[in-house]
Amino acid sequence: MSAPLVLGIETSCDETSAALLRGEQELLSQVILSQDVHQVYGGVVPELASRAHVRVIDEVVDSALRQAGVRLADVDLYAVTAGPGLIGALLVGVAWAKSAAWANEKPVVGVHHMEAHLFAASIEQPRAQPPFVGLLVSGGHTLLLWVPEWGVYEKLGETRDDAAGEAFDKTAKILGLGYPGGPVIERTARQGESRAHALPRPMLASNQRPDDADYYDFSFSGLKTAVATRVRELTADGRLEAETPNLAASFQSAVVETLVAKTMRAVEQKDCRRVVIGGGVAASGALRAALKEALGPDGELYHPSHRLATDNGAMIARAGLFRHLRGEHASLRLGARPDLPFPGMISRA
Ligand code: KG4
Ligand code: ZN
Repeated sequence: MSAPLVLGIETSCDETSAALLRGEQELLSQVILSQDVHQVYGGVVPELASRAHVRVIDEVVDSALRQAGVRLADVDLYAVTAGPGLIGALLVGVAWAKSAAWANEKPVVGVHHMEAHLFAASIEQPRAQPPFVGLLVSGGHTLLLWVPEWGVYEKLGETRDDAAGEAFDKTAKILGLGYPGGPVIERTARQGESRAHALPRPMLASNQRPDDADYYDFSFSGLKTAVATRVRELTADGRLEAETPNLAASFQSAVVETLVAKTMRAVEQKDCRRVVIGGGVAASGALRAALKEALGPDGELYHPSHRLATDNGAMIARAGLFRHLRGEHASLRLGARPDLPFPGMISRA
């Protein structure tokens, strides 16, 4: 029997995506529709997101099926993001997947969005397998994990306030660069000098010890405030426009250095030089380059390609397949949970 054909559906935030994955690695098709309605607001407006998902979900799935050359009846498993995310947005995908599963008499699996981000790299890179140190950096979450095997996640650190991607988005807004912040900050930073502005490296004191509570934790809201203060000063001096590239570069390097330093602490403590990154911020070329350099020639860094780093249906299909093979199917009572707990998460040993 050939490997199961999985339809992955993602609607947790502002991307509507569907993908067809055969087995763990054969990505037959993927369609991602990013909602541009939020750009004028500088952030995602939940109600507009839900309405946009409803409008396009049929078309997105149809187009994924067409590109893969398969029919809905060929799908063996429906995998859908059940949380965390925006409740109205999540419900669109969950209701769609449950109806299709019921009509076609196939199983449905509810997937945790962040566990899916962790699986993303492994779709294209078979060696991105446990044991590894995992760094999940998205618009809503920042998590540093020890992953001895799939399904077992030791939480080493997390953000105390803003997520890494959120820091990029808010800083871009402060700098008047638009939404989403990560890509535009990265582009702007290329024209700037990263040491031009001295910004804080949050929670990075060198005297922290491994058993300190903040050894692995992150905090990015102070950094954003530091940028806002510089912006006020530069505006008063009439130098904001000229200094924006320098400020973007200084901000980006403060975030990247903090993420890399904490990840390397985990690498040393766990004595494991394999690192897997996931989430939208894993699309950052600056982060990838800095991690690669810190890990050195005997280190292994696995990151998803650009289309699998930000929100996508393929990673949902991949994580759904894992849960399916463990027999963890949902019933038609599957609901969406904005605060869905990370499955298999254990606290720091
Ligand atoms: O994983 P994702 O697509 O959605 C969530 O689950 O939140 O992540 C989106 C986040 C946004 O905050 C965006 O600014 C950030 O990923 N991002 C980046 C880059 N590309 C996207 N951050 C830094 N550098 C990038 N190149
Ligand atoms: Zn995401």
